Amino acid sequence: MAKGKFITLEGGEGAGKSTQARLLAERLRERGHKVVETREPGGSEKAETIREFLLSGEAEPYGPAGEAVLFSAARDDHLQQVIRPALERGDWVVCDRFADSTRAYQGAASGMKPGVIEALEQVVVGDTPPDLTVILDLPAGEGLKRIAAGGEGGAPQAPDRFESMDLRFHEALRRSFLDIAREEPARCAVVDARQPESAVAEAIWDAVMERLQP
Ligand code: TYD
Repeated sequence: MAKGKFITLEGGEGAGKSTQARLLAERLRERGHKVVETREPGGSEKAETIREFLLSGEAEPYGPAGEAVLFSAARDDHLQQVIRPALERGDWVVCDRFADSTRAYQGAASGMKPGVIEALEQVVVGDTPPDLTVILDLPAGEGLKRIAAGGEGGAPQAPDRFESMDLRFHEALRRSFLDIAREEPARCAVVDARQPESAVAEAIWDAVMERLQP
């Protein structure tokens, strides 16, 4: 049995996940926990190679099913090399995106049958689901505006493979994350990401305190 706790942050583009993952990890460390901060796609050496291939758009011709398999292959290595060993040591893991992103991006928003995504998730994630998933919820248009303005603290950059999709895609993503939260209320907490950064951080901390008692 894993001794540590596994928290994932999910949501559409521009919701501030990376900043919030960092703030949460700091707060857990202040409580005396060892925290591994990581992200997907990537988080391990082999998974970072697959990340490049996916986010550059090179994998796009493989279609949503091919991309789902690649995200899953990256996740498999990340779980084996980083996440499971950390949890077994008793560390906390804070991960910026995880399997719900595959459900939303390759599943709901790209029109793949949920059964295929579920099967992949069962094989790869198996008995290591997150203890808590925080879904940062933001209207799709607002997220895209934030990205165009430079996203989390950076100068505006060329949009990557998924940022460049249209508004309908991003609206489908938002609905999908909210559906996941409705289907799995024991695992998921939805936080309104339109609030100021500090208020979002407080809401996330409240969810962590209530559900995982760090
Ligand atoms: P990243 O630069 O990490 O962006 P973000 O700050 O939005 O998390 O890029 C990750 C991109 O990959 C993002 O557009 C979501 C997408 N993605 C999937 O499509 N499926 C997945 O399973 C994961 C983990 C990410």
